[in-house]
Amino acid sequence: MNPVLNALQFRHACKKFDPERRIPEQTLREILECARLSPSSFGLEPWKFLVLQDMELRRRLRPACWNQPQITESSAVVAILARNATLEADSAYVRACYDRRGLPEEKITASLRRYGDHLENEVKPLMSLYAWASKQCYIALADIMTAAAAAGVDSCPIEGFEKAAVERVLGLPEDDFQVAVLVALGYRAGDQTPRFRHDFDRIIEFR
Ligand SMILES: Cc1cc2nc3c(=O)[nH]c(=O)nc-3n(C[C@H](O)[C@H](O)[C@H](O)COP(=O)(O)O)c2cc1C
Repeated sequence: MNPVLNALQFRHACKKFDPERRIPEQTLREILECARLSPSSFGLEPWKFLVLQDMELRRRLRPACWNQPQITESSAVVAILARNATLEADSAYVRACYDRRGLPEEKITASLRRYGDHLENEVKPLMSLYAWASKQCYIALADIMTAAAAAGVDSCPIEGFEKAAVERVLGLPEDDFQVAVLVALGYRAGDQTPRFRHDFDRIIEFR
């Protein structure tokens, strides 16, 4: 069987973590390395991963997250942050991402122009740069959860929070980064909660 399928059968949105069990550092670093390897549009890696292990910080964070116990009972919470204005085509960050490819200047200029046109014509009419970056952060979220499951680590994606309050606790307001989504990681306490899915043929259509 496909080993990813195995991991995805193990994964569930863990509501009850064992507060005594910590993820070994090497295991956590490998899960985060999977996040780093996630694909991103134009290769711009529009994210940052804040790994929250400090209990005092997580205690302050919890009320901003609908008081969900996973915030303090898991082993670590990863706040996936999305870039915003630094994704503009004329930003130093975008320029540096293109520069590292070692291409001749005219190719870089042409690529930056194509990127800028894409932002203006396709992205901005539909959404903010933050929303566009967040969509990509969710790819990293999935990679984190799948990598965790493959290592026998449980996870819970968390969107149930007040964004401004979370950003205040994390000290983000002065930064370009904004919180996209959180994910709690650790080990389940007790049985997995039941999972509900539509049948294969209802949601998958071959043409
Ligand atoms: C983007 C996103 C945000 C979510 N936010 C929360 C949350 O704040 N709290 C929670 O307990 N579960 C949260 N969930 C978990 C879902 O409720 C869960 O994935 C869904 O019910 C399917 O169950 P399963 O993941 O166990 O298969 C979230 C899931 C996703 C994908």
